[in-house]
Amino acid sequence: MESLKNKIDIKRLPQHIAVIMDGNGRWAKEQGKMRIFGHQNGVGAVRAISEACAELGVKYLTLYAFSTENWNRSQIEVDALMRLLSKTMSDELKTLTDNNIRLNAIGDLSRLPKYNYDALMKTIDATKYNDRMTLTLCLSYSGRWEITQAAKMIAEKVKSGELDIEQIDENVFSNCLNTSGMPDPELLIRTSGEERLSNFLLWQLAYSEFYFTEKFWPDFGKEDLYLAIADYQNRERRFGKTSEQLTENK
Ligand code: FPP
Repeated sequence: MESLKNKIDIKRLPQHIAVIMDGNGRWAKEQGKMRIFGHQNGVGAVRAISEACAELGVKYLTLYAFSTENWNRSQIEVDALMRLLSKTMSDELKTLTDNNIRLNAIGDLSRLPKYNYDALMKTIDATKYNDRMTLTLCLSYSGRWEITQAAKMIAEKVKSGELDIEQIDENVFSNCLNTSGMPDPELLIRTSGEERLSNFLLWQLAYSEFYFTEKFWPDFGKEDLYLAIADYQNRERRFGKTSEQLTENK
């Protein structure tokens, strides 16, 4: 069968793709296995999608790996996920280096167990000069947490006299978010049939196109990614303008 990769217009690629990797637990349950078995198999999809994005020329891939709310899961699942994340970061260091991919992480990283935080920092440091693609893991992350942090940072700057209230605009605000310096994602993908944001990148997804698929994350492969990008490329992004205005400006 012909690859859907051929349907993608490389000149109009999204620069930044964000993904809510959902359905690991249900995928495992379908096979009568423990939830962690789903997460373990989710790693294969992370590898495939990172590789596919880098090959195409996508510059930023951002994955929702562990939300603030995920701390409320059973201690057994949280521990298993933390161990899996550390192991994956160490195991994949060579692949990241070979593919010139920079690892980045955002979220309340101070809540991560020390061994996990150390493994993360080691991989981030070892890949910091790679410039083909930035792979950002959102860990202990939530959009509201991030926006609250930005508000506190701005309040501190005003208090210290570094910033006037009149100077606060969207740009200043964006620069106080964890994603400062990154373009906003043009495309958000969520797997497993759920159609909600679940506190992910609330500020950054303001104008993004959303793509939902029924597939569970461990089953989401390169061809599924190509389909999502091809679907995105068939849409008209208007940013509040009319279709006619967009044609006139071309
Ligand atoms: C959502 O499925 C998935 C997660 C909460 C964890 C995602 C983690 C991985 C894919 C493991 C490796 C990740 C990296 C970045 C190396 P769910 O548990 O909510 O599934 P359910 O909705 O079916 O219960």
